Amino acid sequence: MSKRVAILISGGGSNMEALVRSMTGDHPARPVLVLSNVAGVGGLARAEALGVPNVVVDHTQFGKNRAAFESEVDHALRAARPDIICLAGFMRILTPGFISGWAGQILNIHPSLLPRHKGLNTHARALEAGDAAHGCSVHEVTAELDDGPILGQAAMPVQPGDTPDTLAKRLLPMEHALYTRVLQRFASGNRELLRMP
Ligand code: GRF
Repeated sequence: MSKRVAILISGGGSNMEALVRSMTGDHPARPVLVLSNVAGVGGLARAEALGVPNVVVDHTQFGKNRAAFESEVDHALRAARPDIICLAGFMRILTPGFISGWAGQILNIHPSLLPRHKGLNTHARALEAGDAAHGCSVHEVTAELDDGPILGQAAMPVQPGDTPDTLAKRLLPMEHALYTRVLQRFASGNRELLRMP
């Protein structure tokens, strides 16, 4: 029986598309829902084109009421009955209460070599820190931001003249390769750390 995968996005959804396209043939998982907290983003059109059911839960409709927003997200997820939830460019911080309702089932891709540079603006911070290497990490989502067990990392050298934009551009395809491989392993029950290359 295939594992059911829901993917949460906030924007372009290139990681979501890579994940959806990877779930074919003898892959142990299949996509069942794409949920965006922002209406009209490119990722929704991509999900539609890929034939994946998709919904918007617009966080701005809930003002400061984070609990009401998360309750709506949880309701949409419960209806899709996912075994795994992949955060893929999802830009809202989820509360410990929400996360505890899906313990051990949520993955996230973060554009840094965790535990370095948790949070935002990771490319600029890697440059400011003079890091020789940069990369991305896939980790299990726990109550602490960007802090859960790391399941995979892909690293690349920082080159002279790199800017946040050149790092982001070079890193994105590596994210796709890493996230798809980690999801396949995770869906098979393999939580061993994967290092790429
Ligand atoms: C990517 O830069 C990724 O590092 C971060 O969100 C950005 C957008 O990703 N997770 P996507 O194209 O929406 O998947």
